[in-house]
Amino acid sequence: MAESPESNDASAPIGAEFILEKMAGSHLVPNVFVFRSLASTNDHAMLPENADLQSGTVIVAEEQTGGRGRRGRQWHSPPFLGLWFSIVLRPCFKENITLLPLALGLAVAKSLENMPGLAPDLKWPNDVLLSGRKVCGILCECRSDAAGRFRVVAGIGINVNQDSGDFSAELRPYATSLLLETGNAHDRADLLVSVLCGIESVLAELEANRSGKILEEWTRRCPAIGKPVSVADGEVVSGRFLGIDSIGRMILSTPDGSRRLVAAGDFEDNRSKE
Ligand code: BTN
Repeated sequence: MAESPESNDASAPIGAEFILEKMAGSHLVPNVFVFRSLASTNDHAMLPENADLQSGTVIVAEEQTGGRGRRGRQWHSPPFLGLWFSIVLRPCFKENITLLPLALGLAVAKSLENMPGLAPDLKWPNDVLLSGRKVCGILCECRSDAAGRFRVVAGIGINVNQDSGDFSAELRPYATSLLLETGNAHDRADLLVSVLCGIESVLAELEANRSGKILEEWTRRCPAIGKPVSVADGEVVSGRFLGIDSIGRMILSTPDGSRRLVAAGDFEDNRSKE
């Protein structure tokens, strides 16, 4: 079995050969490219010269200087402290495509559950939380090229070895890392392999049209279901969070007794206001 270079050193660089070797039994990951620094792994995957990257190709950056979050936010990606990567997918399950971000969040949550002492929660649409703070964010972007070939770039950021001083004062109340939650530094290459294996298995479920299983597993990890919430998407909609529909929208029961389906938005858990 291949050893991660300096595998006892959590700050060791991520080795592409190590990832490829560990994923050798998988059909998901044909290539892994590790960069010392990129503006954004999503942007890199979307470059015209990368239009032919095979499905499953993984692009990792040890540091992102222009990491992007959802809704135009910044994603702070300091060197060697987290996992900042994108995976290029050419999914053959267009009917389930809107479930992909939720499924990826589920894959990350299940991989963190394998670590002693961690009990991640999911926050719609695709954040992973530990102790109520964000440990992972996901940004899925799609593009069709001139030949009509459709690809998704799924960008995943996981806070791994940051100490509280590595987060800005603004982020500190909302963000956490595996180091902060467990008291230990974690090997990022091992974590990447575990998350990629999890992604392979949720993709297999979506491809086999077993989205019910994804929705059920997602729902089980979302503590806000059944609780009062607000979602801001231009307007603010408040109501009780009843669940997720078959294409990943939030089902809300509003105070006037009607049902609202919300496809996108910033979500606030109003449990404390109950
Ligand atoms: C969010 O929660 O707002 C989404 C954050 C997504 C961050 C990841 S890090 C790797 C990839 N490259 C980016 O620029 N963003 C995503």
